[in-house]
Amino acid sequence: MRIAITPYSGFKVGVALATKNGKIYTGCNIENPSLMLSICAEKVALMKALSEGEKSFHAMAIVASDKAYCYPCGSCRQILWEFARDIDIFLHGSKGIKKYFLSELLPYLFTPKNN
Ligand code: THU
Repeated sequence: MRIAITPYSGFKVGVALATKNGKIYTGCNIENPSLMLSICAEKVALMKALSEGEKSFHAMAIVASDKAYCYPCGSCRQILWEFARDIDIFLHGSKGIKKYFLSELLPYLFTPKNN
């Protein structure tokens, strides 16, 4: 989270993604003056892990600079579902830790396999 590059929002997010083989990949949000090109912390951590060949994920922890619970955005939920659908998600806020299954956070997801 300290390393997040957020000159536009000032909202820093930090993520730790644990693999089933015990490795941790971290991520932070990185903003761009063309704001739609900003990248969420969750995507950074996931892409780091995937690009190192990781395939099995255990859990993700998310914390934000303002200590409010930072729920992953819709786009991150959908991407996590594709590559890490069985993970637990831990949100850290000033009132403690909340735990969710990704499946709870993404009901009625898009999938081309619906029938
Ligand atoms: N952000 C994340 O990194 N993860 C989320 O789940 C929600 C939002 C970032 C994007 C942007 O840099 C800042 O938070 C404010 O929206």
